[in-house]
Amino acid sequence: MKNISKISVIAFAALSLSSCSSDPDSPGYEYMPDMYRSSAIEPYVDYGHIREREHKEYKTKMSAKTPPFATIPYYGTDKKEVELMLPYHRKPNKSFKITHGLKGYEFSNEDEYALALSDDNPLVLTEENKEQIFEDGKKLFNSKCAHCHGKKGDGNGTMVESGAYAGVPDYANLKHLSDGQIFYSIYYGKGMMGAHASILTKKEIWTLVHQVRKFQDPNYGSLKPLEESLTTDTTTVDLDNKK
Ligand code: HEC
Repeated sequence: MKNISKISVIAFAALSLSSCSSDPDSPGYEYMPDMYRSSAIEPYVDYGHIREREHKEYKTKMSAKTPPFATIPYYGTDKKEVELMLPYHRKPNKSFKITHGLKGYEFSNEDEYALALSDDNPLVLTEENKEQIFEDGKKLFNSKCAHCHGKKGDGNGTMVESGAYAGVPDYANLKHLSDGQIFYSIYYGKGMMGAHASILTKKEIWTLVHQVRKFQDPNYGSLKPLEESLTTDTTTVDLDNKK
């Protein structure tokens, strides 16, 4: 009995002494560290450490889940590409609420369509990217627009030919529109045309703007380099190739 009480006194003293620490931030001895500090698994940080154990395979993998289908991705380091993913700076006029049933938008009292006259296409055509842009543009156009606008952009899509739909313009008559206005109309819709903001990314819409220009002028995007045309001909150079 004596021994047992001696042992317990010593054990108690040892435990009391060893459980203290001079560090004021120390939590002391942790019996169940998991419960004191849950492991932080943050969505966009690849620690590769879960519960003190290293997982090499996670270090090289994105820990965040793939975004849900049809949401708009926003990532990357190329400033121009990222800018194309940011929200469109022009707001719909408040009448769009009624005419196009737009919900969840901030509306404007100004005629933003008129203001879009000065907006240029930020997806600039270069020798390197233009083939891809026209290829993508054609695909997008055939799947999202041709049933109304026609395969040649002349306004004679199958919907129109069937008699189910009318009032689709021929792009050839819309050369006066700016790139920004074409974008605005595809994004928010116009008249009988619905909004496409929820089904196309901004990059896809700017690609389609190039496609509309191509319908208006088959030579669009195939302008000779400036110095070459200056030396070979003396006629005025149409820089934008818009006419
Ligand atoms: C349901 C049929 C329909 C679909 C689909 C459609 N449009 Fe239209 N689009 C129209 C009609 C109708 C107009 C005429 C609107 C007006 O001026 O009132 C129009 C007008 C336009 C204009 C002229 C806009 C302006 O500012 O005058 C452009 C450019 C255009 N569409 C491009 C597209 C592109 C690109 C697509 C595919 C993403 C598309 N449209 C899909 C029916 C459609």
